[in-house]
Amino acid sequence: MTYLTVYTDGEAPETLLATAESGEIAAALKGIDVRLRHWRVAEDLPAGASQEEILKAYREEVDQVVAEEGYTFVDVAQLRPDDSADWPERAAGARRKFLAEHTHDDDEVRFFVDGSGIFYLHTEGRVHAVLCEAGDLLSVPKNTTHWFDMGTSPDFTAIRFFHDDDGWVGDFTGNPIAERIPDFDTITASRPRG
Ligand SMILES: [Fe+2]
Repeated sequence: MTYLTVYTDGEAPETLLATAESGEIAAALKGIDVRLRHWRVAEDLPAGASQEEILKAYREEVDQVVAEEGYTFVDVAQLRPDDSADWPERAAGARRKFLAEHTHDDDEVRFFVDGSGIFYLHTEGRVHAVLCEAGDLLSVPKNTTHWFDMGTSPDFTAIRFFHDDDGWVGDFTGNPIAERIPDFDTITASRPRG
């Protein structure tokens, strides 16, 4: 279930809102031009489903978004804890990549097939932390200052949509605000369980 926390962006951030109520979340995100939609979750996907199987299971929804928004490239990003010796390093490296505030010159559009992650959207003196889970499709407009936290034990599968496939780059703002706002582990540990 989606969970939204809104903070002030000053030196000592205050929590303005914390909610799992879909109407409140929709209203808050509409106010900052961020789109959140909910798709049905495919029940018949095996645990180790391949990228092709995942895209096939959501073909109708993916085709619709591609047709509406003109995306030309769609793929699947997946991180899942395993027992390999290099997992801690891979997990930390993946997390670090987009953990500082940045922008992109394309929309950032993600559909969560399973697992979770938090998008932090920094705009107009506020930080909206959107915890996305299975069934959530989030569209962050291009040039929106944001960061993404997958936590210290990343576990998610997400379909990604792009307008081109020449690599996904972030323009980092140098603003250390992400260090002041509660991270993925903190938010997921403290939110009420419905
Ligand atoms: Fe990003």
